[in-house]
Amino acid sequence: VTDPYVLDFSANLNPFGPAPSVLRAVHECRWDVYPDPDATVLSRLLAERHGIEARQVLVGNGCSELIDLVCRTFVRSGDRVSIVGPTYGEYVRSARLCGAVCRTISGLRPDDARVVFLCNPNNPTGAVIPGAEIVALARAVPDTLVVADEAYADCVPGFTSVITPGLPNSLVLRSLTKAHGLAGLRVGYAVGPPDVIEALRRTRVPWGVSAVAQTAAAAAVRDDAHTRSTVSDWLGLRDELVARLHGLGLSPAVAATPFFLLPNPTGDPWHVRLARHGIAVRDCSSFGLPGVVRVSPRFGADNARLVAAVRVEVEQS
Ligand SMILES: Cc1ncc(COP(=O)(O)O)c(C=O)c1O
Repeated sequence: VTDPYVLDFSANLNPFGPAPSVLRAVHECRWDVYPDPDATVLSRLLAERHGIEARQVLVGNGCSELIDLVCRTFVRSGDRVSIVGPTYGEYVRSARLCGAVCRTISGLRPDDARVVFLCNPNNPTGAVIPGAEIVALARAVPDTLVVADEAYADCVPGFTSVITPGLPNSLVLRSLTKAHGLAGLRVGYAVGPPDVIEALRRTRVPWGVSAVAQTAAAAAVRDDAHTRSTVSDWLGLRDELVARLHGLGLSPAVAATPFFLLPNPTGDPWHVRLARHGIAVRDCSSFGLPGVVRVSPRFGADNARLVAAVRVEVEQS
């Protein structure tokens, strides 16, 4: 949503934004020269964070670039790609652009796919798949690349990543745009076996991640305390908002993430009804969940505006 007059609950972004240390680092960053094409400093920091080697990390222009890169590198026309749904739509879009035959599956089960995409924690439901189940799947399908999109991992305290088991056929994607508040700068990373990371590296556009994005991301990764404490506050904002929606007789579906689902009562869908109040929520029809919207909590005063608008609509229905 780009309209400044619309209150946007549709994007899953940490409302507290980046740490002051990130703003300082960005201010001092040199951007009149080419960025480091290998994002060496950031890759080392990320490797340290996860206890792996830097050659297992590839920094990308957002997780979006990495999803595209996975498909361009590993998917050929006619290959099967399985997607654990309902979920984020970019896996299907990117895979189809490479000629894949896509199949949406409702749970983890071994099949003959070239690539399996799963989103954990899932967008839009916020559900978390236990890491052990993903590891078991990857072991059962050694010829399939199992891609776990953990874009929202830092939005869920105590989340168990599948980075740690270091499986030969599994790739983890992470975003630094959401919990770290860097959406406009675009930065994410992939973690996987060195040969898979090297194949992705060969396919990518050079200098794809700007100097400012690299610098901001490195500062954000160093200031993990800011991310952890603001995510915890964000979850607190979610709990308050959800309690108020329950108070209006609604049934929000809350899982592990700050964002949650709100099923429509009868009548016009919520995204249409709330648009009349200058409020944007995410219609989930494109995820395969018609009649449901996704709400990402903001600060208290904004959440109060949402609740007031919902109250008006509930009273009118
Ligand atoms: C599940 C999931 N993966 C990846 C992305 C893209 O993230 P990025 O901003 O890092 O490109 C999104 C963005 O909404 C997402 O929901």
